[in-house]
Amino acid sequence: MNPIDLRSDTVTLPSPEMRQAIANAELGDDVFGGDPTVNRLQEMAAEMLGKEAALLVSSGTQGNLIAQLSHCARGAEVIIGEGSHIIEHEGGGAWLVGGLGLHTVRVDAKGRLDLAEVRATIRPDNEHYPRTGLICIENTHNRAGGTVQNEEDLAAVRELANKHGLPVHMDGARIFNASVKLGVPASALTVYADSVTFCLSKGLGCPIGSVLCGSKEFIHEARRMRKVLGGGMRQAGIIAAAGIYALQNMIDRLVDDHDNAEHAADGLANMPGVTLSPPPETNLLYFTVEGWKAHKLEARLNAAGVLCFDEGGRIRWVTHYGIERVDIDEALARTRQVLAAGA
Ligand SMILES: Cc1ncc(COP(=O)(O)O)c(C=O)c1O
Repeated sequence: MNPIDLRSDTVTLPSPEMRQAIANAELGDDVFGGDPTVNRLQEMAAEMLGKEAALLVSSGTQGNLIAQLSHCARGAEVIIGEGSHIIEHEGGGAWLVGGLGLHTVRVDAKGRLDLAEVRATIRPDNEHYPRTGLICIENTHNRAGGTVQNEEDLAAVRELANKHGLPVHMDGARIFNASVKLGVPASALTVYADSVTFCLSKGLGCPIGSVLCGSKEFIHEARRMRKVLGGGMRQAGIIAAAGIYALQNMIDRLVDDHDNAEHAADGLANMPGVTLSPPPETNLLYFTVEGWKAHKLEARLNAAGVLCFDEGGRIRWVTHYGIERVDIDEALARTRQVLAAGA
């Protein structure tokens, strides 16, 4: 039985055309600033996100950590939504490496920060308190269900940050999913943040890499922090070539992933006991089934060749390049059988 891999959009494999672009990449030593393909990717990314400069990094986790280290001095406090990827899935790097405090605030069902709580969390300038150094947001929001924050949502965060002279970092691992969903350029969303990390290695189908974007001054500091973290890569044009291909060819097709997630949601919603939690906005789909513990359902689905995870008591399916409509139909048919067999 062929497995249908809905665990994550990180399982995507490079297309033949992307592999060709990798094979043909012009290379140099990027730690010396001499890899023309990396430089080209960085210029493209900065332009697309409306920033002065960009930096290729090894992963979204590294990009987010570099951003926090570059914005904040040791001992500063980062204000961040509870359940955000930086808090839950990045190994506590900000604490461990940066000596930063992460102060969580409530988020709503879409992953938007509770701005009243943010306001109350920003520290006055007083020697008794840590300094507030940064506000982090996540768009699309993974745990909330691939939910999208629009320009109005982001402008409200920006306005508050401006009032207090604070920078904003956006974990935009899936920012192009948000831009495609809203039908606006990514720069229309990233304009509200000082820095943004986006991932090449998720829905854009690259094997490795993320890009951190911001002002020239910020990226100068970020480059130093990347080096400190061991992230200075040499002939990294091998990675960047895939990124350039992705920025040129893989963004528009994200709409197919969103359509497939919606199709999957429609099919699941028709099965007895299934609750979408919530219905998908982009390519992430979470659900529960009455009478089933998520870890047990995960095991049964995996045994039936529908690869997915129990994410904190909900089953998560992720649609991505390489998953077609027929795969979703097959995943739905297998799921129906698993549920019919009973818990
Ligand atoms: C919202 C979000 N941010 C950051 C990351 C981290 O990316 P990476 O796995 O490249 O470190 C992920 C990975 O899934 C993510 O979903």
